[in-house]
Amino acid sequence: MLNFSRSRAQTRPNRSHPLGGMDFADPKKKNGAVGKILLAAGLTALCILILKQSPSFNSPSPFSRHEEGVTHDNLSRGNLGAVKILQGLFPEPGRLQFIYADLGDPKAMHKIFSENAFDAVMHFAAVAYVGESTLDPLKYYHNITSNTLGIMEAMAAHNVNTLIYSSTCATYGEPEKMPITEETPQIPINPYGKAKKMAEDIILDFHKNSDMAVMILRYFNVIGSDPEGRLGEAPRPELREHGRISGACFDAARGITPGLKVRGTDYKTPDGTCIRDYIDVTDLVDAHVKALNKAKPGHVGIYNVGTGRGRSVKEFVEACKKATGAPIKVEYLPRRPGDYAEVFSDPSKILRELNWSAQHTDLEKSLQVAWRWQKSHRNGYGSSSTASI
Ligand SMILES: NC(=O)c1ccc[n+]([C@@H]2O[C@H](COP(=O)([O-])OP(=O)(O)OC[C@H]3O[C@@H](n4cnc5c(N)ncnc54)[C@H](O)[C@@H]3O)[C@@H](O)[C@H]2O)c1
Repeated sequence: MLNFSRSRAQTRPNRSHPLGGMDFADPKKKNGAVGKILLAAGLTALCILILKQSPSFNSPSPFSRHEEGVTHDNLSRGNLGAVKILQGLFPEPGRLQFIYADLGDPKAMHKIFSENAFDAVMHFAAVAYVGESTLDPLKYYHNITSNTLGIMEAMAAHNVNTLIYSSTCATYGEPEKMPITEETPQIPINPYGKAKKMAEDIILDFHKNSDMAVMILRYFNVIGSDPEGRLGEAPRPELREHGRISGACFDAARGITPGLKVRGTDYKTPDGTCIRDYIDVTDLVDAHVKALNKAKPGHVGIYNVGTGRGRSVKEFVEACKKATGAPIKVEYLPRRPGDYAEVFSDPSKILRELNWSAQHTDLEKSLQVAWRWQKSHRNGYGSSSTASI
């Protein structure tokens, strides 16, 4: 267990922000450059040293009792800077703990579950780019499906009986009928969606013989960022080409890329570009809080988390131009493999059963909020990151 701030245990409010980003070196990524290997080895050694010297490594932690607020990550695509901001915001002892670990490491999982009394697991961690999944499918099956199996084994072995799982509309593939309900057949068409569907199957099969409380949330396309401007998305630059549309828009608006590449203008949609159901991250957070509150032993809840309204890529680009005030250059290219034409949710089940509906999602406003953070954090969570442009 690593302590990155003045206090190991810190408070988290009732809401968590599943924001992600990628500006920290992935310790598992292979790289030919000797210097980078040495740097990685040095960092690993440092991590182990800190781990061994950490008071919590040998002495009982406040988290060995049931406490709220735990965050795990291996930082492969996360930001230590974001963790530090959260730790600074909620410094009270016994509330928020960051553990640096890889979910794919069973020994580390066993140790973490042995040393902490968890009430529930919210399993967000994943590699999550459709395009990348088509190029490196094994990475996706390993990181998503196999790691979820590992989490289930750890939960079963340590009697942790509540799971909130981050699934995706990509598990539905390209259904013939819109909107997508939870009963729509799941026929995923890319490795990302397939890996998540398999992970769902593992969870559901395990659940048949257990009294676990399970909530599976199938998110649609997440946008926005912390409305109070503390956290934002800062993906690793090398993943930019796989990135999501909002990141690509902001990169173009900041002049980091020459323009925006829209892939596919011949889909069977009114303007020829893909249609997606965008959901603000603040709404997503609320859905998790409601799901956790309504999770019942022996019960599975599966919910679409979307607005029920589809917006085309062209509409998105227009909203992005307005939100950023930048004249974004748009280049139209052929389709990207693994994309589907039109996807939007029927969110009536989650309204009926969890009393949740999107309250904070407005394409232009959500993009404005995210843009504010982007504009004032040109280097993401890096040290000189607050220069305005
Ligand atoms: N962003 C979306 O539009 C969207 C839509 C549907 C579902 N989801 C799901 O939501 C979840 C979060 O997505 P996101 O957009 O915030 O992605 P993200 O890449 O920003 O965050 C994922 C986090 O998981 C961590 N992680 C990955 N592998 C890990 C491992 N082996 N051990 C520990 N940590 C690991 C990464 O370091 C990163 O911090 C994912 O499960 C994703 O599939 C996201």
